[in-house]
Amino acid sequence: MKTLLVTGGAGFIGSNFIRYMLDKYTDYRILNLDVLTYAGNLENLKGIEEGKNYRFIKANISDRNAVEKIFEEENIDYVVNFAAESHVDRSIEDPEIFIKTNVMGTQVLLDVVKKNWMLGKDETGYPIYREGVKYIQVSTDEVYGALGKEGMFKETTPLAPNSPYSASKASADMLVRAYNETFKLPMNVTRCSNNYGPYQFPEKLIPLMIANCLNDKQLPVYGDGMQIRDWLHVKDHCAAIDTVLHKGISGQVYNVGGNNEKANIEIVKLIISTLGKSEDLIKYVKDRLGHDRRYAIDNTKITTELGWKPSYTFEQGMKETIEWYLNNKDWWENIISGEYKKYYKKMYEEK
Ligand code: NAD
Ligand code: TYD
Repeated sequence: MKTLLVTGGAGFIGSNFIRYMLDKYTDYRILNLDVLTYAGNLENLKGIEEGKNYRFIKANISDRNAVEKIFEEENIDYVVNFAAESHVDRSIEDPEIFIKTNVMGTQVLLDVVKKNWMLGKDETGYPIYREGVKYIQVSTDEVYGALGKEGMFKETTPLAPNSPYSASKASADMLVRAYNETFKLPMNVTRCSNNYGPYQFPEKLIPLMIANCLNDKQLPVYGDGMQIRDWLHVKDHCAAIDTVLHKGISGQVYNVGGNNEKANIEIVKLIISTLGKSEDLIKYVKDRLGHDRRYAIDNTKITTELGWKPSYTFEQGMKETIEWYLNNKDWWENIISGEYKKYYKKMYEEK
């Protein structure tokens, strides 16, 4: 039996990852530490019961005492850090919380795991850790900056983040690297492309466009809509993290991509046609400041060295995703209306 601490498990990818891991490893205990920001939604975990295999802890990763307490209470083997402020547009409006959570929060986690997993020191002063422990930092391809028409990001591509969000994620990556170099902390960093799938907060491109389309609202396309992202189905991402957690070589970075480069406008038009709406809903709006033109991931390392590969085609993944949003209207309507915050109040704040 292994105990896995997932941070940010009430968000989009974290909640999908908890479901994936509980299904696959029935003997694992999963702890979900999440402070429930606007993006954290316990409805994402509906149906998962607290008990032997699962526990929710409302806490901030930047709160050292709270994180220490969990390590005192539980015998944690693995940490997968999803907790972050994750939206580029918000980072342009208000960068400070991105530094507090994404950079300083990561540093708190690193310090606490180092202290709790350390058994002693070798004769040269390097820490010696308990067997079988590992820290995974879930990062992003955005740390590499932007590409022109050609090329792909490799793990060796120099970091050149352009937004406050990507700068904060790159800073966290550097801290994780430093804790491995200086303290030999067992770790991996994963850098994935844009995720899509169930439970994605409707501020991100795909769920926002689906929700607006269904409500016959305008579809705001930034600039000329020709920016390119590589799209990765969230379930493929979960499988990649599972692979890296169990098979990744400590100290290594792994890129995770879906081999699906698409221009934003193509995606918007696909959603419109699937839902039988009119392209008149498209509204070209002012471009995002510092908008990265193109991302593309070279995932040769994880596919050849660890044997992971994406299983979804974009067509199949989008078909299922659109169906999910059609079948789970209450979920996203509760978010848009603010109802979901009342749900927490009832569930946790009154406890
Ligand atoms: P999300 O915004 O949906 O969820 C983030 C979760 O973290 C929320 O539940 C939130 O409550 C929690 N959180 C935020 N600050 C916290 C804090 N201080 N302490 C504890 N919990 C906190 O994000 P997501 O899309 O699921 O992304 C998860 C991770 O994956 C992030 O680290 C993000 O940078 C990375 N990532 C996401 C994508 C993507 O396409 N969504 C792509 C690449 C990398
Ligand atoms: P987003 O989902 O915010 O992810 P990221 O910025 O991390 O890639 O945006 C994906 C792409 O879609 C990005 O190029 C910005 C663009 N976009 C729009 O054109 N309109 C929108 O309303 C949003 C949210 C994004």
